[in-house]
Amino acid sequence: MEPLIVCACAFMVLIVLLRRRAGRVQCLPPGPPGRPIIGHLHLLQPPLHLCLHTLSQQYGPIFFIKMGSSPAVVVSSPFWAKEFLHTHEHDFADRPQFEASKRIFYNNRTLVMMEYGSLWRHLRKLYTVHILSSKRVEMFENPRLEEMALSIKLLENQMCGAVVDLRKLVFNTVGNMMSRMLFSKRSFDVSEAADGGECRFKELVERTAVLFGTPFLGDLVPWLSWLDVQGARKRMDRVAKELDKFFEEVLVERIATSRGVSEEETDADYLDMLLRIYNEDGGMDRDSIKCILMDLLMASIETTTTAIEWTLAELLNNKSCMMKLQEEVDTLIQGEDAAVLNGSGKCLVRDSQLTKLGYLQAIFKESLRLHPPFALNLRQMCKALDTGIKVGGYDLPKKTRVIFNLWAMARDTTMWGANAGSFCPDRFLNDGAPDLRGHHYEFLPFGTGRRGCPGMSMALTVAPFVVANLVLRFNWETPDGIILDLSKEASSLTAPLATPLVAIPTLRRSSQ
Ligand code: HEM
Repeated sequence: MEPLIVCACAFMVLIVLLRRRAGRVQCLPPGPPGRPIIGHLHLLQPPLHLCLHTLSQQYGPIFFIKMGSSPAVVVSSPFWAKEFLHTHEHDFADRPQFEASKRIFYNNRTLVMMEYGSLWRHLRKLYTVHILSSKRVEMFENPRLEEMALSIKLLENQMCGAVVDLRKLVFNTVGNMMSRMLFSKRSFDVSEAADGGECRFKELVERTAVLFGTPFLGDLVPWLSWLDVQGARKRMDRVAKELDKFFEEVLVERIATSRGVSEEETDADYLDMLLRIYNEDGGMDRDSIKCILMDLLMASIETTTTAIEWTLAELLNNKSCMMKLQEEVDTLIQGEDAAVLNGSGKCLVRDSQLTKLGYLQAIFKESLRLHPPFALNLRQMCKALDTGIKVGGYDLPKKTRVIFNLWAMARDTTMWGANAGSFCPDRFLNDGAPDLRGHHYEFLPFGTGRRGCPGMSMALTVAPFVVANLVLRFNWETPDGIILDLSKEASSLTAPLATPLVAIPTLRRSSQ
């Protein structure tokens, strides 16, 4: 009799377990039917944020897909964004690990891609306290002013009345600002916007961005990674070698000419600061320094350039906003001490004046809302949660990725009103309008929480600074006065305009 009872109990336990398991599967968020091995990859087309937006209209503000063998939920509403980034903030503080990051960034040692844990915490503190604090950003104003002045002179002397490739000009200007802040060198050639040439380092940065922007089959279906049908590993290794060589040379040269600086206040650039920390703190090695330099360059140039390019494109299409902004900048410059352009006696708006330009701030926020450079933000469930967790009533398997569709959230009419899709900076002039601190889940261009962008104050200084000075000095027109089609976007690491922005500058009378 006894063995029979044991068997019956075991049977019942099995039924309960199986039911639970079945229940768990039923509690996944809704989603389209998938296929074996590839999951839902066949449904995903570039630009991914547009494709995911279309799917969200059918399956709702949270839906489940499999990117190859990786489970993922796509979040397209502020309500669900808050659920993951506030209620479960700690649980989703990880990022997926990618082959490109392993090979190019010294086995995932950049802050952006690093696995959540004690190493990440250590590095994050270094970034927020020392590298990207507002005080540090302020300290490096001079190289930014000088680079802006150089680009303006180039425009005045060689490009007035001509068609200017604004994407190139802005990319190189921002790139030089960053590389001068980092290691006191100009690494990009602004004149290529005038003569069509290409700079070798820029080409390297762009190749890196392409490798990160192109899905690698092995990241999606790990057991097929040995195939490497795309030949991507070879390209990653080549880029890794060239980047390492570039930064190794920078490092060797600096160590050879070391100025023996030891006081924080006298650091001439970030490299000085990192070498000082390297000497003081045995925890940092040579690769860490190269990796931080790469991280800062890669995380900043393309994002900031994309943000500026979209802002200028919207201004070209919205003439009344452009004129209102020019009036605001003119009034500021006439009333205050501005920086003087070398030798010419002409003025530049300075960092410290940016907060006085309320309309510029509203324009920049509105541009970030409609065109967040990272249209999709990516997180992953922390590794420690090895049985998965429940979120908002849904059961999510371990290592679920969360894709926040920031682009779609900006078009949510329940949050932004009937004109959600229009460029309307005035909405940010209202009291109580969302700010960028990450508490308004409908507006997260810099993300939020412990993995939110630590470079926000740098970006909010550099991007509006470039826009203010370009519209202060010049009037801008599209070739033949055409209205730009801003509905088309390219698919890259960020989400820029489908084709590079071009425009014709003419010198403004008021700035002469
Ligand atoms: C308009 C310009 C920029 C935009 C829109 C932007 C946006 C973002 C976003 C959405 C994230 C992910 C946040 C999250 O997961 O919650 C991020 C992370 C990051 N950003 Fe930015 N960013 C910009 C500029 C910069 C700059 C100028 C730097 C540095 C100089 C920078 C450094 C980083 C780093 C290091 C991370 C990774 C943080 C971590 O994972 O702990 N970003 N950024």
